Amino acid sequence: MTCKTTLSIELPKRPKSKKCYESLCEVVPGGVNSPVRAFKGLDIDPLVVERAAGAMVYDVDGNSYIDFCGSWGPMIHGHAHPAIVEAAQWRLAQGTSFGITSTAEEKLARLITKHVPSVEMVRFVSSGTEATMSAARLARGFTGRDLLVKFTGNYHGHADFFLVQAGSGMFGLTPTSTSAGIPEDIIKHTACLPYNDIKACRDFLQHPDNRSRVAAVIIEPIAGNMGCVPGKAEFHQMLRDVTKQIGALLIWDEVISGFRVGLGGAQALYGITPDLTCFGKIIGGGFPAAAFGGRADIMRYLAPLGPVYQAGTLSGNPVAMEAGAKAIELLERPGIYAELERKADIITQPVKELLASKGINACMQQVGSMFTLFFGAREVTCMEDAKQLDLKRFAHFFRYLLAHGVYFAPAQHEACFVSTAHDEKHLADTRDLILSYLDAF
Ligand SMILES: Cc1ncc(COP(=O)(O)O)c(C=O)c1O
Repeated sequence: MTCKTTLSIELPKRPKSKKCYESLCEVVPGGVNSPVRAFKGLDIDPLVVERAAGAMVYDVDGNSYIDFCGSWGPMIHGHAHPAIVEAAQWRLAQGTSFGITSTAEEKLARLITKHVPSVEMVRFVSSGTEATMSAARLARGFTGRDLLVKFTGNYHGHADFFLVQAGSGMFGLTPTSTSAGIPEDIIKHTACLPYNDIKACRDFLQHPDNRSRVAAVIIEPIAGNMGCVPGKAEFHQMLRDVTKQIGALLIWDEVISGFRVGLGGAQALYGITPDLTCFGKIIGGGFPAAAFGGRADIMRYLAPLGPVYQAGTLSGNPVAMEAGAKAIELLERPGIYAELERKADIITQPVKELLASKGINACMQQVGSMFTLFFGAREVTCMEDAKQLDLKRFAHFFRYLLAHGVYFAPAQHEACFVSTAHDEKHLADTRDLILSYLDAF
């Protein structure tokens, strides 16, 4: 598929955004505080946002966009939801940080342990990166083993030992780092395996050279960081069975899927009980909060009870706890996840039908309210598939949407999210826009 559509794209005028961005670049590397915000490969200047409300974001030039990125997942209730703002404001007025235990922490901890039964105890941190990094340390401390197993195309934040990819054409114990500044000595304790490949992963984990060395297998149960790619049920079952067999822990990174695909997260959907789970995004209600938790006997290995050190000045920040608790309470309303999925279907189902009827080499993958439209493949099940995607086509599609006031996650290997704030018109307009794009193929 080549990028040959004749659709013209007239992008909104954004002179003020350009000026702000260029000015920011003088004091912040690349003008962004997280690289994916730089819109690399999209052939367009990044957005500079002034404010957001409900399903909409507004740039500094006054252009508005229907937002399907949702701050990369947290905004399941849309932006500035009145009940979350009110809860956070109430807490703000009580003091913003104490460095002392507060009642706000128990509220959110109880909500998480109530809805995710595998999580008997939970510890709060401020980012998903901290959650996965701390869970990995805990797993290593608990098992007394060093080796971490992860999967190519899964992202677990930017701790040194997670920034690895399988060496060229290889998988297993010879990963290369995906960033400068990471010592070889650190990545040699991470193995990188192919996602959804039952045989290769089972063989690796059961191999006599590896089985007694693996501290933990960490996985995104529904990958969001190569686009929306669900793990196969049999693959998850195999990982659960084999980790048990070899005495390794299973860590589910539910930073995206937690409270996104249901109150019980991906583990409720698959019926799998991990040993440890990582959360982020939604549990902070739009503030910087994340957590890791799991079996109480493992969690008691953490300081001050146990020998594994872990800490944070702003951990359990009361404003973030209050906002996160409110976000989860709002999700407890009956039928909310079915409604989110119904809303996502307004876009995804007609798109799937059109792709099939026109035989377009693209696919729509979805779990509940998260989805990705992939260009250049009929199915994406692992990173090997995701590497074949047509990034030029995606960039063109992204610009087309933006030109018409719709903001999708600005990279092909990412997921889009529907929120409770998207109304029928937002969804129907977006659907029609995508259909008109695909119709022009
Ligand atoms: C699955 C997953 N784990 C961990 C992280 C890291 O979270 P944070 O960006 O809050 O450090 C992310 C971030 O997108 C993620 O998607």
